[in-house]
Amino acid sequence: MRIVLIGFGVVGQGFAALLRDKAAYLRDSLGLTTRLVGVYTHTRGSLYHADGLDPNALLTIIKAGTLDDYPYMPGLGRSWDALRLIRKGEADVLVEVSPTNLIDAQPALSHIRAALESGMHVITANKGPIALAYDDLRKLAAQKKRHLRFEATVMAGTPSIRLAMQSLAGCTITAARGILNGTTNYILTQMESGKTYAEALAEAQALGYAESDPTADVDGWDAAAKALILAASVFNKRLGLDELHVSGISHLTPEHIWSAGEANERWKLIAEVTLEGGKVEAMRLPKSHPLASVSGATNAITYTTDLLGDVTLIGAGAGSQQTGFGILSDLIDLHRSR
Ligand code: HSE
Repeated sequence: MRIVLIGFGVVGQGFAALLRDKAAYLRDSLGLTTRLVGVYTHTRGSLYHADGLDPNALLTIIKAGTLDDYPYMPGLGRSWDALRLIRKGEADVLVEVSPTNLIDAQPALSHIRAALESGMHVITANKGPIALAYDDLRKLAAQKKRHLRFEATVMAGTPSIRLAMQSLAGCTITAARGILNGTTNYILTQMESGKTYAEALAEAQALGYAESDPTADVDGWDAAAKALILAASVFNKRLGLDELHVSGISHLTPEHIWSAGEANERWKLIAEVTLEGGKVEAMRLPKSHPLASVSGATNAITYTTDLLGDVTLIGAGAGSQQTGFGILSDLIDLHRSR
């Protein structure tokens, strides 16, 4: 499986580390050999080599410098732009993990379209294109007979999409409700143990949970994008961001947290999608509520189904390795389906 990776930040590096650390497992247990032939960053260079780049060397040099520091070898292409890498690089899969843009999904949307047009499969952790253009991309993928996978867009590597679309196929799902943003859940948990909002947000950023622009997390837009992704993929329902009622946690003060605690309650940012619509809002839950005990960057989702009643999944919602695994799980799935 030859891979082009667009975006080499927290998620891209998490995925590259897994290509390095799991190479023997993937080969010996699953018969999957991977070759990372291209890497693109917006500000720190790009590389292409048909024989593959060394993930470990990439991870080492990006810590302190740019991809230009990668040692020269014959056949190495440098400074290709993203579209050239997608169109001219010989690869089977595009992994698109550039920063999410919820206004027009660019440039990721163009990257994904170009890859499908060029006959590549696409795996993405980028919420913009799936939240805003799922139908178009799904049709294009079907027309080109290529796969479009996006497990890592919701709850990182915790298989929320696969659970709904594969394991629960046959059930009618009428609602999805839960904690879908790791950053805000981490902030709320830390504020309960006495940290200030600013300290907790800084920690969430340092731990790689937050978006490049963390207002998307704290104002509820990241959770809203995930609600749109679930609406489109699980409910087959097209919703726009402007059709959701969205609020966040930035108005919550230590007093809010304290007074909820006094009443044996806890603030949580809850996202909900039903067949009618969706919303994201911070609310107080009794501490005995199942979602109240989901803490830190952990997420949870409850699907309401006709045949099983409620089915709840709890697991990592953000982070480098956790989201990298979401990409890897799609790659394995894709390998198995070929
Ligand atoms: N910023 C996101 C979060 C990353 O905190 O949940 C995972 O989508």
